[in-house]
Amino acid sequence: MREYRLILGDCFGRIDELANQSVDAVCTDPPYGVVEFTDGELQKMRSGRGGIWRLPPAWDGCKRNPLPRFTVLTGEQRAAVGEFFTQWGKKIFGKLKPGAHVLLAGNPLLQMYVQQGMVSAGFENRATILRLYHGFRGGDRPKNAEAEFPEVCVMPRGNYEPWMLFRKPLTEKTVAQNLRKWGTGALRMMKDNKPLPDVIPSCKTPQKEKLIAGHPSLKPQHLLRIFTRALLPVGDGTVLDPFMGSGSTVAAALTVGAAAIGIEQDSYFFKMTEKAVPELAKLYPHFKGESLQCAGLNGSAAEYNEQLSLLENAGSVFNSTA
Ligand SMILES: C[S@@+](CC[C@H](N)C(=O)[O-])C[C@H]1O[C@@H](n2cnc3c(N)ncnc32)[C@H](O)[C@@H]1O
Repeated sequence: MREYRLILGDCFGRIDELANQSVDAVCTDPPYGVVEFTDGELQKMRSGRGGIWRLPPAWDGCKRNPLPRFTVLTGEQRAAVGEFFTQWGKKIFGKLKPGAHVLLAGNPLLQMYVQQGMVSAGFENRATILRLYHGFRGGDRPKNAEAEFPEVCVMPRGNYEPWMLFRKPLTEKTVAQNLRKWGTGALRMMKDNKPLPDVIPSCKTPQKEKLIAGHPSLKPQHLLRIFTRALLPVGDGTVLDPFMGSGSTVAAALTVGAAAIGIEQDSYFFKMTEKAVPELAKLYPHFKGESLQCAGLNGSAAEYNEQLSLLENAGSVFNSTA
């Protein structure tokens, strides 16, 4: 396993410690609105009392994990998302090698502000990769008027999560020259010379991963291994996750042979990473993100097929809670 470094602190300050032009790629799941991961809101979430984190109803006898409620952001807070990414983008810019990619998890409602912010910081907007999975977003009925408007839903039923891809401009004349000098500027192909697709069938984060790393926004190893592998075109380099949560990206990067750096400001989550990173990295030893098949995750395609059938039936499944 390659070397990795876990840093406790605010990434806006701690990023300064990294050497200039030393990072090959960033893959991260940022805190949108910068509201839900403040100390006060996290305390409310942990005590189960109020706050921006809601506890949705029970589902199949299990209490669901709290979900952040992006729709409560005001117009001012939405504009602040753009400004946040301009400042953050400027902060990481100098630490990245020319041609390095940055991949950011997003939300359809806030995606445009993030892209504006990152472009203002100097990045090229390259693509959006859709992670297909059956979540709980959208499809809501008009509150207290379900009977009056029986054929109405307020928002489309959400079945994807956008991951926004950016690139620091090349310094060399061609991609080939940039690859030779810096090892960056392009994406690594998947198995059988297939380019990384911009739609990836995914699954909810498996229970066995949640038992290792109990972060409310834990992302699946399947997806993160595909991403961290693709972000390193010559198969080597350092991946940075400045909002690492419980360390899922760091673990994924290690399994695809990369070095990794993770920064997390919350000490409760940070403690989790120290144990979670090696344990997550040990899972699915044969899956290194080179194909889309989830089968490598658990030795069976059952979970993957279940997710696909949920997606196919998604139109008929919705909640009526908002
Ligand atoms: C959406 S979560 C990431 C979860 C991660 N994807 C996982 O699988 O565990 C964002 C994380 O960023 C952390 N965070 C928020 N602001 C930060 C900052 N300025 N510096 C470092 N970490 C920060 C939060 O505490 C939270 O754990």
